[in-house]
Amino acid sequence: MDDAELEVLLRNERYPWSAGYSARWIVDGGMGPNPVWQAEALAERMRLEPGMRVLDMGCGAALSSIFLAKEFGVEVWATDLWVKPEENLRRTTEAHVEDQVHPIYAEAHALPFAEDFFDALISIGAYHYFGTDDLYLGYYSRFVRPGGQIGIIQPGLAAEYETLPPPHLEPYWKWDFCAWHSAGWWRRHWEKTGLVTVEVADRLPNGWRDWLQWNEACDHDRGTPGQEEAQMLHADSGQSLGLARVVAHRNN
Ligand SMILES: C[S@@+](CC[C@H](N)C(=O)[O-])C[C@H]1O[C@@H](n2cnc3c(N)ncnc32)[C@H](O)[C@@H]1O
Repeated sequence: MDDAELEVLLRNERYPWSAGYSARWIVDGGMGPNPVWQAEALAERMRLEPGMRVLDMGCGAALSSIFLAKEFGVEVWATDLWVKPEENLRRTTEAHVEDQVHPIYAEAHALPFAEDFFDALISIGAYHYFGTDDLYLGYYSRFVRPGGQIGIIQPGLAAEYETLPPPHLEPYWKWDFCAWHSAGWWRRHWEKTGLVTVEVADRLPNGWRDWLQWNEACDHDRGTPGQEEAQMLHADSGQSLGLARVVAHRNN
């Protein structure tokens, strides 16, 4: 598929800031449902100002880090485990933000930062890989200054299910989807620590449609339309699946 066709498939008026970024660049680097759209959706509920120090935890190919640096003038520590920092340095240099975005290789439980260092911690499509442990927020939140913000967005559910997934999702279900939770679950998960105050915990309006649009565009681009995740999102039609967004600030 050529770049112009891909651009059309990923046109989405919901995300005006993301529209300034090439669809090909996003598809080549995206590791989950459009990290740039998700960064925009998260940023609209956070207070990001020029010069702020931001941790992008689980940044993957650092597209969200580059987006936030360019759109908000923040300085970003683009931290990831699976993507090599050399690769992200190349991308930040190509995007002319190498002075503003710092690629870091680190595991989420061994972060090489000083406590209270950041003004904001963000995580896109990644926090559920390491943050469902009851005790993790106590570790993670110490890296943001008191009063600083913590924002996450990732695949999630409309509501928690008791044991097995809803029957219409069973044909598609993989065991590790057990880490997908509702916004309400995340609110409770964080609030019960007493360490943060949750400001936003919602299901992104129409997030499932954005996710599906992303998957369909990527599937078409690879020449393999109708892959399983897109089938699952179609079958669900927003009943259970979507994107869960949570924003909190660290208590003093
Ligand atoms: C689905 S990808 C999302 C990447 C990127 N934010 C995006 O949306 O394209 C999940 C990312 O979480 C990171 N990750 C998962 N477990 C991690 C851990 N224990 N420590 C650090 N990063 C982790 C991986 O390196 C991976 O890049």
